[in-house]
Amino acid sequence: MQVKENFSLKKHNTFGIDAKARFFAEIQSVSELKELLAQPDYPNKFILGGGSNMLITKDIDALVIYVNLKGITIVSQDENEVTIKAMAGENWHQFVLWTLDRDYGGLENMSLIPGNTGTAPIQNIGAYGSELKDCFLSCETIHRATQNKVVFLKKDCKFGYRDSYFKNEGKDQYVITSITLKLTRKDHTLNMGYGTIKDELQKNNIAEPTIRDISNAVIAIRNSKLPNPNEIGNSGSFFKNPVVSRAVFEKFIKENPKAPYYGISDSEYKIPAGWLIEQCGFKGKRYGDVGIHKKQALVLINHGNASGKEIFDLAKKIIHEVYTKFGISIIPEVNIIK
Ligand code: EPU
Repeated sequence: MQVKENFSLKKHNTFGIDAKARFFAEIQSVSELKELLAQPDYPNKFILGGGSNMLITKDIDALVIYVNLKGITIVSQDENEVTIKAMAGENWHQFVLWTLDRDYGGLENMSLIPGNTGTAPIQNIGAYGSELKDCFLSCETIHRATQNKVVFLKKDCKFGYRDSYFKNEGKDQYVITSITLKLTRKDHTLNMGYGTIKDELQKNNIAEPTIRDISNAVIAIRNSKLPNPNEIGNSGSFFKNPVVSRAVFEKFIKENPKAPYYGISDSEYKIPAGWLIEQCGFKGKRYGDVGIHKKQALVLINHGNASGKEIFDLAKKIIHEVYTKFGISIIPEVNIIK
């Protein structure tokens, strides 16, 4: 295992930020991971997966451990369901396609989400009405301090909207090495609650969709709205959609009767941050090499050589203006590396 010095992370984060790692090593086995975690020569260690949900605002003065663990295995199956284990370094979308090739149902609505399987539980990835937690069974981790293997069952992960134990109490304490999911082999539950999926299927005259048709619809919708990180640096939704109390919501909707929203419960409402940001006039704006995507105001973009700090400064400006106009705080979904 080679440890490189002053290594550019540009190709390792989907924002395409050219920050440097003081030290960088790629691990391809769990034993290599344990070995590096135990290394006393590098007191600071930073775990890197697909780099799709992070904004690096300065060089990282640590040993960056790039988790490149590969392998997908079927743990068990019966005629109805299959349990699959994917190692943390598998690309999420390639994994989704692998399941679709075998007609395993459950992940189709989450097609084309950037990143790796190992980082999926950290923020409980989700899209078009499905979330990872819907088919999640467990994940294996290595405890960073002791290098012991610790298995987290679904209930231990404390999943919430773009949230989990690993973002809160468990932050920076474990390295996820694999995830185990349960998918359907027949009688798939199709999730077409999202209007745009129905519209896309209708457009293609698909009356009785398969899970592959749903995946294709999601891919088409995402491609039409979200920039491809291979072409333009971005990290998907930069902010979470704010969840507000009934009192805040009632005042908001009275003042903004046309605003979109989703009722979560009798006491909580989710308001699309993209709408709030668009209303502040940011959509499609560009300032030097940083900007806001023209088709989805939730997405901040690096037009070329933006620094992480410039993107973070724009994010702070957006947060401030949304708060000033609506009295609602939006918070980043991406992990800001400061
Ligand atoms: N909207 C605007 N202007 C915008 C963007 C959105 O007015 O610039 C409005 C839309 O018209 C719509 C509402 O906001 O009424 C919701 O928009 P959309 O369906 O595009 O979804 P979203 O809430 O903006 C969330 C996820 C996305 C996910 C989509 C579809 C979060 C933070 N984002 O976006 O996730 O793909 O739903 O399920 O929850 C990601 O996490 O990287 C991501 C892209």
